[in-house]
Amino acid sequence: MLFTTAPSTRNNMFVVVLSLLFASSLIMTITTTDAFTPVTPTQESTSTTLGMTTDYYKRAAKSTPRGGKPSTPSSKATPRNVLVTGAGGKTGRLVMQKLLSRGLDNYIPMGLVRTKESKEGLEKEGVPSCHITIADITDVNSLEQAMEGKDAVIICTSGTPAPTGEMNAEGRPIFGYPNGQPEQVDWLGQKNTIDAAKAKASSHTHVVVCSSMGGTDPDNMLNTLARNADGTGGNILLWKRKAEKYLIESGLTYTIVHPGGLIDEEGGRRELVVGVDDSQAGTESRVIPRADVAELLVASLEHDSYQNRSFDARSKPEDDTGSTITTDYNQLLVDLPGNTDYTLGKIPE
Ligand SMILES: NC(=O)c1ccc[n+]([C@@H]2O[C@H](COP(=O)([O-])OP(=O)(O)OC[C@H]3O[C@@H](n4cnc5c(N)ncnc54)[C@H](OP(=O)(O)O)[C@@H]3O)[C@@H](O)[C@H]2O)c1
Repeated sequence: MLFTTAPSTRNNMFVVVLSLLFASSLIMTITTTDAFTPVTPTQESTSTTLGMTTDYYKRAAKSTPRGGKPSTPSSKATPRNVLVTGAGGKTGRLVMQKLLSRGLDNYIPMGLVRTKESKEGLEKEGVPSCHITIADITDVNSLEQAMEGKDAVIICTSGTPAPTGEMNAEGRPIFGYPNGQPEQVDWLGQKNTIDAAKAKASSHTHVVVCSSMGGTDPDNMLNTLARNADGTGGNILLWKRKAEKYLIESGLTYTIVHPGGLIDEEGGRRELVVGVDDSQAGTESRVIPRADVAELLVASLEHDSYQNRSFDARSKPEDDTGSTITTDYNQLLVDLPGNTDYTLGKIPE
């Protein structure tokens, strides 16, 4: 059924299904803590995920939000050179589209992708090839070349869990990380990115990270994916958290966004709810459209209130009658007291 209804390739659909599984895992894990209550993968996540095409990304990035355009500061005198890692991924490509749509007098984005195929995919979506570079964040040389002279980097790389095709004793699918284990991608790769930013980017570099909610709970189900009996492997949220702490201690200007479950819905149609430490205050919803996360990541470069902040982000349902669509991205963070407490959870040695 999946492969007969979708216009895109089997590979694309495979990635879509994996994303849904990942989101479901996050939601299911989150529900095991006191702070979260059960959510089933719902109409909003399933319907849109299965309907996703590359056109979705163009529309999501460029559409005018129902509540009006997000407030963005006017053009700066000099455009900022921004490296977007994981630009071929589902959130990274939206960030690219958003930066480009703000105009080259504001941003000169460079999308870092790992393969020629990812580069071609972005080109098909309208990203000019001069704004795409091929590099691997586990390869310091290629990363440093890509980072040269950048004013900011938005990190959208991640290990991506995928079913191996095998089942465990309880009949549940076993997951692996075919594109790299979290220790390699989410810790060492991000560490390389932060080090390269320090060494090769401009003196005022700002590092923005797309991370994940759930980091306060070492037993979060996402951590158990691809974890071996001896405790090695997997632990994606632990390795992400280690990289976040490393960034904060680097002295670079930072913004760390922890989204809830990512869904492929239009952006700019919901009230966003920000918080810290996996709090469930403000809405029972556990999800947020990738397009809204991309807007938050770009807003991080545009408002002082995002500097040196680490926070969670979810959204109220689109049809929530009492909500007000978020347009003032600056105020969102001005109104948020505090930052993520990194003494909670666990940081691997
Ligand atoms: N899915 C969810 O529900 C959910 C919820 C909360 C947070 N998050 C987090 O949100 C972030 C964005 O998620 P997403 O679903 O948009 O990500 P995604 O589509 O899985 O993209 C990840 C990207 O990272 C790239 N990458 C991996 N290893 C690399 C390497 N060594 N060098 C260069 N690039 C590399 C991948 O490239 P290849 O395509 O070449 O492998 C891919 O393009 C991730 O950190 C994710 O963990 C996800």
